[in-house]
Amino acid sequence: MRRPVIAGNWKMYKTQAEARAYFSALVPLVRSCVHCDIIVAPPFTALAVSVEAVKGTPISIAAQDMHGEPEGAFTGEVSAAMLVDAGCRAVIIAHSERRQFFGETDERANKKIKAALAAGFTPILCVGELLAEREGGKMEEVLARQFSGGVAALTGAEFSRIILAYEPVWAIGTGRTATPEMAAEAHRFLRQQAAASFTPERAAGLRILYGGSVKPDNIKGLMAQVEIDGALVGGASLNAEAFASIVNF
Ligand code: PGA
Repeated sequence: MRRPVIAGNWKMYKTQAEARAYFSALVPLVRSCVHCDIIVAPPFTALAVSVEAVKGTPISIAAQDMHGEPEGAFTGEVSAAMLVDAGCRAVIIAHSERRQFFGETDERANKKIKAALAAGFTPILCVGELLAEREGGKMEEVLARQFSGGVAALTGAEFSRIILAYEPVWAIGTGRTATPEMAAEAHRFLRQQAAASFTPERAAGLRILYGGSVKPDNIKGLMAQVEIDGALVGGASLNAEAFASIVNF
């Protein structure tokens, strides 16, 4: 039985004061949550206040990205060890916005995943096709490439510690959600890839989240699909009440 995960990605939103106010509102609404893991990914500057705010609650804090090297002359970057030190338990890797706007590659994503695993926290690897790729019949090819590039050379035990997020780029921030069936179909394909690269048992244990315009009013339908193990939520995670109602699907 795979334990569901509901993760929120704030992207480049919220100051420290806003983060404190958010968790004051969110914590009472999810305090008794036992049915899923809850993860929130604030921007770097709000990590410390967020970690402080969720102490003793079921919420864990993630970073939105990291560098693959342990340290070095990489101006503007943050390492896995720094994030662990800041209290992060997870990190989003290769979000489509990183791929689209910041030149993230599968190779670098792979390096980051290995570094995150070595530092002892959970990488959430994002994969997903562009609209033109879907319409051009290339969805499976893109997902297979991003998946195999991202998890290249992981051991089975390492693979079992990652979370995968299927986020069709055309559904992110557009209000255009994949139907639960479309998402489930992509998830099935990704699980087959996992079975082929690792073992059917490892694949069966892999948690695959759906992301792309997840809202309080569509989460139930998505979670009704056995293939969908949770959600990576952008816009709707910025509002504590909306995110809580997604958590409490
Ligand atoms: P969205 O973003 O929920 O605003 O579509 C999802 C994401 O980017 O993870």
